[in-house]
Amino acid sequence: MSEPAHILVTGGAGFIGSHTVDALMTRGLRVTVFDNLSTGYMGNLEQWDGHPRFQFIAGDVTAEVTQPLTLAVARFGHIERIAHFAAQTAVPISMDDPAGDIQSNLAGTARILEYARHNKVAKVFFASSSAIYDDDAPVPVSETSSARPSSPYGINKLAAEFYLDYYARLYGLCSTALRFMNVYGPRQDPKSWYSGVISIFLDRAVTGKPITIFDDGEQTRDFVYVTDVAEIVTHALLTDAGNNAVINIGTGVEVTINALTRTILDLAGSASPVRYEPARAGDIRRSVTTMDKAQALLNFAPRVELREGLQATLAWVRQEMTRPAARSGSAA
Ligand code: NAD
Ligand code: UD1
Repeated sequence: MSEPAHILVTGGAGFIGSHTVDALMTRGLRVTVFDNLSTGYMGNLEQWDGHPRFQFIAGDVTAEVTQPLTLAVARFGHIERIAHFAAQTAVPISMDDPAGDIQSNLAGTARILEYARHNKVAKVFFASSSAIYDDDAPVPVSETSSARPSSPYGINKLAAEFYLDYYARLYGLCSTALRFMNVYGPRQDPKSWYSGVISIFLDRAVTGKPITIFDDGEQTRDFVYVTDVAEIVTHALLTDAGNNAVINIGTGVEVTINALTRTILDLAGSASPVRYEPARAGDIRRSVTTMDKAQALLNFAPRVELREGLQATLAWVRQEMTRPAARSGSAA
């Protein structure tokens, strides 16, 4: 019997990456996580610690990757497919440090693509973002909507997509880029001001601390649950579905930040005060996707509705509070 395929997950100690590792491990594959633990946590992978089909390699995609990955190959053999999540993920940080964002989000991706072409990797998945769209593009956005990013983060995600296309045309490297809308769920770190809004608001609601809404709260987002995302990433990565395509991944449901706040306070039974502050620079005003291409190419239909996903995430937040050491495993 042949050995299970060896999959590399960059950024696999992070929020979406670690759920994708769960999906890949559950399918019986061999998985190497490559992560610099800048925002990821070993605690997100503790369920696989010591498993014979799992290994963690500390490393940075902004540096030379071939040498550290020889260790991964020595143990599990040729890397067949790569899920590339490793990135600086906060829009405001990219605005403060555009050059740094080029390093982590664009140069890092180019290094992974170079590795893939020189090492005959069968397919690369790339975590792109709805932040590539024009703030003024009519919603819902489809993959043909105007791409005109309003942040260096979005610019670098879009540029990385062009690199995927370039590698496909020149070297025949197969890839799929999924443009995630706003992903939420367990393991999203609420500690940073730049974390996802749901993780921050749930944390504030449970602890009774004030919730800060930027702008008037009528800006909208399309929130998609992390296990739905991990499943569709795994499907695109392991099959020919979505080959050399760029596809939006969301739910098609547009939610205002005000409505989200009310639901969170209600679910948590919280009396946290709500404050309003000026809009964050670079924030998209409205964001929601069409579902047609994801349905047609990936047969994607999200399973978890917002209220159900918020309940599951709330349960996780409460559980984490009973074991405070759990999220201190980051090397950051
Ligand atoms: P995350 O911060 O939890 O995960 C990122 C992971 O990458 C972390 O484990 C971090 O330690 C690692 N990392 C960062 N820089 C690295 C580097 N230079 N070398 C090696 N590892 C590095 O964030 P996430 O929300 O899980 O995001 C995963 C991917 O999905 C990112 O590419 C992000 O841009 C993209 N994305 C996320 C969302 C969202 O809503 N969360 C939406 C669109 C796109
Ligand atoms: C998020 C992702 C980004 C991804 C993009 C795709 C994070 C940290 N960022 O960016 O990687 O590419 O979705 O669309 O997950 N808000 C508040 N109060 C807060 C925090 C946020 O009102 O305390 C508001 C923001 O101003 C914004 C909305 O909530 O209008 C969503 O913010 P956030 O969760 O940071 O996500 P995006 O900026 O959309």
